[in-house]
Amino acid sequence: MIELRDVHITYPGADRPALDGVSLSIAPGETVALLGPNGSGKSTLARLCNALLVPDAGEVGVDGMATTDDGRLWDIRSRVGFVQQNPDNQIVGTVAEEDVAFGPENLGVPSDELRERVGRALADVGLAGFERREPHMLSEGQKQRLAIAGALALEPSYLVLDEPTAMLDGAGRAGVLETLARLSARGVGILHVTHQLEDVLGADRALVLSRGRVAFEGTPAELAADPERAASLGVEVPSFLVMVRALAAAGAPVPALPADAEAVVEALWPS
Ligand SMILES: Nc1ncnc2c1ncn2[C@@H]1O[C@H](COP(=O)(O)OP(=O)(O)OP(=O)(O)O)[C@@H](O)[C@H]1O
Ligand SMILES: [Mg+2]
Repeated sequence: MIELRDVHITYPGADRPALDGVSLSIAPGETVALLGPNGSGKSTLARLCNALLVPDAGEVGVDGMATTDDGRLWDIRSRVGFVQQNPDNQIVGTVAEEDVAFGPENLGVPSDELRERVGRALADVGLAGFERREPHMLSEGQKQRLAIAGALALEPSYLVLDEPTAMLDGAGRAGVLETLARLSARGVGILHVTHQLEDVLGADRALVLSRGRVAFEGTPAELAADPERAASLGVEVPSFLVMVRALAAAGAPVPALPADAEAVVEALWPS
């Protein structure tokens, strides 16, 4: 379990706290969506989860280890994989397999196991066969999946992703979301920071931050069902979901929470 208890943090020189009394837990296998407008504290919260930051007050624990305990730093960082918005900022290897090996190699994983881990991690993100590819030759979506493989090679129990689809096109985004769904089904706990409700409709829970506080806690479906409330929280409900509600109200046989517009079309006109 990743647990944040009444966390407060103010950056040096800032005139208000970045997080001001936030509590949250993420269990293994659970996907939590973290939404909110620019500057609401999402990235700060994400960085607290693997001890990239520690709180001024309150506690952050990972499977019972406090992130302020320096002696547990590597243990915490190998349990909580971190994936940033821009894959170029986290890819270090000159070829894919070298990049994925970087983390576990630094932890002293022996070479036989290292090879296995790299193979597994690349397969997990749908990049089996890409071992010798140069990262800069990959698409943005493939690069982001490579970055996820790098985190997975540490065999984390949790993945924290800070807007992992923000730089991707539709296909790249779909590939990353598919990968996350697969990892979730396998029991990895996920904190998915995003601006797009559409990316996290399948999440178990959704939290919306506003100026460093939790302004909403519920399910993505609850947010999607109330576009006005969502808008007041700075979250935009995708237009196809607004349309779906109108169609449902008119008696059309549409799914309550379709993943995308194609799912609506398929329900109305099965192929
Ligand atoms: N390194 C820093 N130094 C000073 N202030 C910071 C720093 N990083 C973030 N902040 C401030 O802390 C607050 C929360 O920022 P944070 O980056 O966590 O928000 P966010 O929700 O991730 O925003 P975005 O959607 O733009 O990524 C903002 O007021 C921001 O200006
Ligand atoms: Mg951010």
